Amino acid sequence: MSKFLHKMEVTLLAFMLILIRTKAQSDSTCIFQNLASGYTCQLINGSYINLGDEYSIQGMHRDGFSDVNVTELSTSLFPPPNQPNLNYIPAEIFRRFPNLMSLQLWNASVGSLMGVENCDNLESIDLLFNPMRELPRFAFGACGNIKLLAIGDSPIEIFHPEALRMLTSLESLTLVHTMITNIPPGAFDSLKELQTLNLKSNAISSIDSELFKMLSKLENINLSENFIDNINSKAFDNLQVLRNLWLNNNQISQFDQQAFYNLESLEVLHLHNNRIARLSSSYVTPMPRLHTLTIDNNLISAIERNFFENFPNMATLLINHNICANTIDELEQCFLNWEAEIGTTTQTTTQTTTEMTTTVDTTLTTSTSTSTVQTTTDDGIGEGSMISIPIISSLIVSLIVTWTSISG
Ligand SMILES: *[C@@H]1O[C@H](CO)[C@@H](O)[C@H](O)[C@H]1NC(C)=O
Ligand SMILES: *[C@@H]1O[C@H](CO)[C@@H](O)[C@H](O)[C@H]1NC(C)=O
Ligand SMILES: *[C@@H]1O[C@H](CO)[C@@H](O)[C@H](O)[C@H]1NC(C)=O
Ligand SMILES: *[C@@H]1O[C@H](CO)[C@@H](O)[C@H](O)[C@H]1NC(C)=O
Repeated sequence: MSKFLHKMEVTLLAFMLILIRTKAQSDSTCIFQNLASGYTCQLINGSYINLGDEYSIQGMHRDGFSDVNVTELSTSLFPPPNQPNLNYIPAEIFRRFPNLMSLQLWNASVGSLMGVENCDNLESIDLLFNPMRELPRFAFGACGNIKLLAIGDSPIEIFHPEALRMLTSLESLTLVHTMITNIPPGAFDSLKELQTLNLKSNAISSIDSELFKMLSKLENINLSENFIDNINSKAFDNLQVLRNLWLNNNQISQFDQQAFYNLESLEVLHLHNNRIARLSSSYVTPMPRLHTLTIDNNLISAIERNFFENFPNMATLLINHNICANTIDELEQCFLNWEAEIGTTTQTTTQTTTEMTTTVDTTLTTSTSTSTVQTTTDDGIGEGSMISIPIISSLIVSLIVTWTSISG
């Protein structure tokens, strides 16, 4: 009998210990701070392992403040040992702080994006350094007012085609350092307000032709440090306000015809550290605002002579570490190689007009170092006076050669 009682006592004790332990594990604490950016909860300690687990947040408010004043919640990137362990983003966060606008859960063990709700007021979510593997369907579906979303340094492999479907207010999307190999077609179709898309350092190998077609406000695309080997025809078509495009540090060996069409606002195009072999005018339509083109550290051996005429305002061209040229002075060899490959040396006239709608005739070649350029006269009649200028000086007059290579 006493033996039995003793056994019961032990069991009870063990049970209570488990209870205490569970309770101790589930409480997080806010360190409240009144920062310039807003009244902030820095979240420490606590864990939330399964959806629906008990989870509460403790903490002493600063004088005059209460839960409704909290607009930011964050964890630190280089955590003290008391970093919270949040398998899921607890719904309690949004219940407790109804006016939360910014959620920055760095390095907080977030393994799944399921179960996020009641986050209408949220404008910014930053989840860098978390171990989630999936962007599920309607991720953050309840947070339709998010303008800024950052996810990165996560082993994400699965990108559901409708993961971002509800984020119609998104202005900036950062999705970097993941294992994503493919952006599913249509994945960005509802992001009509998107201005900046950072997809740097993923494992993306190709870009669907229609991927960006709905993103009429897109100004910046960063696709650097991926495994892209080919730029599909019209991959970037009709991005009327695109200003900066990073495609450097990929495996690009080929552009389809019309790869860079209708990019009238493009100012900076980074193509360095790829395997590009040839540059043809058929890849591009004129880019009147382009001032910087980096094509250094490629395998370029031939360039169509009128290629650079598409960039009348180019100021910086990086071309070092290529096969046919290391400097702008050596470009002639690239043109000659092209002409040798084509096998024709027809003297032709290249047309450039102020309306940038005309496509460049892909068969045009010139045989001398002098190109005949037809320009539209200032009175805008378009009658065109014929001027003959040495092609090198006409095209590259303001170019700056930089010998230093940009190391990968
Ligand atoms: C906190 O929010 C309440 C309700 O909006 C407001 O009345 C109060 O002034 C705020 N406190 C501070 C310190 O801003
Ligand atoms: C994340 O937190 C762990 C400790 O919990 C730490 O060892 C690691 O360095 C942190 N990672 C980053 C990127 O800060
Ligand atoms: C957070 O946890 C650590 C131990 O992990 C403990 O020493 C500390 O008191 C806790 N802080 C709060 C505010 O609960
Ligand atoms: C894109 O990536 C490059 C490095 O490859 C970096 O220098 C640049 O700042 C990035 N731009 C954006 C908008 O993220």
